[in-house]
Amino acid sequence: MSTAAETYNYQVVRQFAIVTVIWGIVGMLVGVIIATQLIFPDLTHGIAWLSYGRLRPLHTNAVIFAFGGSALFATSYYVVQRTCQARLFAGPLAAFTFWGWQAVIVLAAVTLPLGITTSHEYAELEWPIDVLITLVWVAYAVVFFGTIAKRKTPHIYVANWFFGAFILTVALLHVVNSAQIPVTWWKSYYVYAGVQDAMVQWWYGHNAVGFFLTAGFLGMMYYFVPKQAGRPIYSYRLSVVHFWALIFTYMWAGPHHLHYTALPDWAQSIGMIFSLILLAPSWGGMINGIMTLSGAWHKLRTDPLLKFMIVSLSFYGMSTFEGPMMSIKTVNALSHYTDWTIGHVHSGALGWVGMISIGCIYYLIPRMFGRTEMHSVGLVTLHFWVATIGIVLYIAAMWIAGVTQGLMWRAVNPDGTLTYTFVESTRASMPFYWIRLGGGLLYLSGMLIMAYNVWKTIAGRKATDAPIPAYAPAHA
Ligand code: HEM
Ligand code: HEM
Repeated sequence: MSTAAETYNYQVVRQFAIVTVIWGIVGMLVGVIIATQLIFPDLTHGIAWLSYGRLRPLHTNAVIFAFGGSALFATSYYVVQRTCQARLFAGPLAAFTFWGWQAVIVLAAVTLPLGITTSHEYAELEWPIDVLITLVWVAYAVVFFGTIAKRKTPHIYVANWFFGAFILTVALLHVVNSAQIPVTWWKSYYVYAGVQDAMVQWWYGHNAVGFFLTAGFLGMMYYFVPKQAGRPIYSYRLSVVHFWALIFTYMWAGPHHLHYTALPDWAQSIGMIFSLILLAPSWGGMINGIMTLSGAWHKLRTDPLLKFMIVSLSFYGMSTFEGPMMSIKTVNALSHYTDWTIGHVHSGALGWVGMISIGCIYYLIPRMFGRTEMHSVGLVTLHFWVATIGIVLYIAAMWIAGVTQGLMWRAVNPDGTLTYTFVESTRASMPFYWIRLGGGLLYLSGMLIMAYNVWKTIAGRKATDAPIPAYAPAHA
C-alpha cells in the first residue's frame, strides 16, 4: 500500500498494530510456560536460561511493554492524528520510536534469560537499555505533543489528555527509578538503598499500573468506545473530573505494596487511604465508558468489538474495586504473598488491558489495510468468548488458591504451633494451578485466532492506492 497518498501517517500505526498481536502471542506463551512450571518445576530440566526466575520477568516485560506498549503506541498515534486532524509531527522520529521500541524488546528478550537484571520488578532492564528507552520515550513525546501543537481543531479531545499524561508520567517514573551507577556494561547499582529504595520502587511500580496499564488504556476507551458505539461520550464533564482526580490520586497509593514492612506506618496508611479514594475516579471513568452505550445497548448483541470493550470496562471496574479492598491493611495481611495478588493482577491485565487492546486493534486493522471489516467477524466473536472464559477460569482459580493459602498460613493450633506446613498449602493450590493453566491456554488460543484473522484480513486487501473507505468525523 502506498503511504504517500495518505493524509495521515498510518505506516507507524500499522506497524505497531501488527507487532501488538505478535508480542501478545510471545508474552502470553511465556505466561503459559511459567504457569506450567508452577505445576512441573522440572519442566525445563534445570537449564538456567529457561528457569522460572528468568522467564517470569520475561513474561511481565513482554506482556506489559511489548504487547501493551505497542498497543498504546498504535492507538495513541492513530487517535492523536484523527482528533487533531493533523498528520503526525516529525515522521522520521515516529519511525524511530517503532524501531527503537522493537530494539528495546529484543534486548529484553536476550538479556533477561541470560540473567542480566537490575532485579527491580517491572524495571529489570539494565542501564544501557534504560538509556535507549529514554531516547525512544523523548522521541515519542516530541511526536505526540508536536502533533497536538499543530492541531487544526480548537480543543484537545479528552483521549489525548490521558495519552499525554501517560507519556509524561512514564518519562518521570522511568528516569527517577532508573537512577543507577553503572559499574560495567551490564551491571549497575541503584543510588537508593534500603527502605528508600523500596519506596521509590513501589512509587514507580504502582504508577506503572496507574499510568502505563491504566491512563493510556483509558485514552483508548475515550476514543474507541464512542466510535464503535456510534454515540458521544456519556459525559464530557465527568471525563475532565475523572482525569484530574485519577492522576492526582494515583501518585500517592504506592505504599500499599509495602504494608507491614520497614516503611513508616504513616506512609503505609497514606497509601491505603489514597487507594480507597482511588475507587471513586476509577469507577467514574468506568461508568462514563459503559454509559456511553445508553441508547445503543442492542449493538452489544451483534458487535464483537463492543463486546471486547464493554467486558474490558467491567473488568476495569472489578479490579479497581478489588485493589482498594486489598490495600486495607487487615485484608492485605491475608492477600499479600498469595495468589490472590496474581488473580487481581490478571483481572486487570487480561480483563482490562488485554480486552480493550484487542478490541481497538480489531478496530484498526481493517481500516489501516483498506478493508471495511475483519476477514471473519465470526472468528472475532469466537475470540471474545474463548478469551472471556479463559479470564474467568484464571482469576477465579487464583482467588480460591490465594485465600486458601492465606488462611492455611495463618492457621495456628491451640498450642501456638502452625497448623499447616508450607508444602501443604502448595499441594492444596495444585488443582487451581491446573485451572489457571487451562484459562491461560484459552486466552492464548484466542490470540492465535486473532493472528490468523489479521493475516487473512491483510492478505485479502485490494491492491490499490485508493484512499481508505470513508470514516465518520474525527470527533465522536
Ligand atoms: C495467557 C495469558 C497469561 C498467562 C498464562 C499468565 C501467567 C502468569 C504467571 C504464571 C505468572 C506468575 C505468577 C506467580 O509468580 O505466581 C504471571 C505473572 C504476571 N503476569 Fe501474567 N499471564 C498471562 C497474561 C498476562 C498479561 C496479558 C499481562 C499484562 C498485560 C500479564 C501480567 C503479569 C504480571 C504483571 C505478573 C506479575 C504479577 C506479580 O508480580 O504480582 N500477564 N503471569
Ligand atoms: C483503584 C485501583 C487499584 C488499586 C487501589 C490497587 C491496589 C493493589 C494492591 C493493594 C495490590 C497488592 C499489593 C501487595 O499486597 O503486594 C495490588 C497489586 C497489583 N496490582 Fe493493583 N490495584 C488497582 C488497580 C489495578 C489495575 C487496574 C491493574 C492492572 C491493569 C493492577 C495491577 C496490579 C499489579 C501488576 C499488582 C502486583 C504488583 C506486584 O506485587 O508485582 N492494579 N494492587
